[in-house]
Amino acid sequence: MEWFVRDFDHPLYFDIYQCKEAEAQEEGTALATMLDLPRGSLVLDLPCGWGRLRPALEDRGFRVVGGDLSPLNLHRHQSEYPGALARLDLRALPFRSGVADGIFCAFTSWGYFASEEENLRQLQEFHRILRPGGVLLLDLVSRSYLEDGISRMENTWFNARGGYRERVRWSPDHRRVLTDRIHQGERFRHDIWIPEDQEVLDFLILAGFEVQAPRGDLEGHSLDRNSERRIYRATSRPTPRA
Ligand SMILES: C[S@@+](CC[C@H](N)C(=O)[O-])C[C@H]1O[C@@H](n2cnc3c(N)ncnc32)[C@H](O)[C@@H]1O
Repeated sequence: MEWFVRDFDHPLYFDIYQCKEAEAQEEGTALATMLDLPRGSLVLDLPCGWGRLRPALEDRGFRVVGGDLSPLNLHRHQSEYPGALARLDLRALPFRSGVADGIFCAFTSWGYFASEEENLRQLQEFHRILRPGGVLLLDLVSRSYLEDGISRMENTWFNARGGYRERVRWSPDHRRVLTDRIHQGERFRHDIWIPEDQEVLDFLILAGFEVQAPRGDLEGHSLDRNSERRIYRATSRPTPRA
């Protein structure tokens, strides 16, 4: 089973990521503003998780449809933030071509797949369902921030509240970050490709986007070596004629 099928669909996931609910308003408001689309725009929240960022998108006047693979997340989403939702896989989206004005992809939700082809496929699917000129907002953790953080604690288990343990390290080829977690006796392993900045740009361009200068934080400062995030606003180019 691919790691993301189980890790995100486990009841303990909500426990582990509890702190993200408190960050949702600030994070969602800033990121939704960066989409910079008119009120009434159709924005797909992909993947939407349990919907913590949906209120910020709705506050901007967007029509929002969420999509996620995890039934557990979708179930929580429907009870806490009811609205239009679809169960889906990011590699094959169940939407018509050109239907969306915007796609909102927050909290490092790209790079989960084992192959570059599948990770490119996710961006190509985003491009397919956006109308020409539609906007993708892609919010990723910064690679340099991870480099610095991991170099201080690589391969060290740290203990937090209630016996929770976590260890972060690079894959042997230094391209993916492996995060092991043990919580209430259950083991989890995130395995995420962390591309170089240039690779993110190359993949976005290859998938059919024009990319603005990335931002490095929620305040909109330029991306630099000390940035914690990489936030890309990419505009869908019309598909070139064959
Ligand atoms: C880090 S969470 C981010 C969710 C949301 N964007 C947020 O900021 O709260 C990643 C989400 O991706 C979903 N996911 C993982 N792999 C997926 C796939 N192949 N297709 C669709 N969703 C997927 C997970 O179920 C999880 O809800």
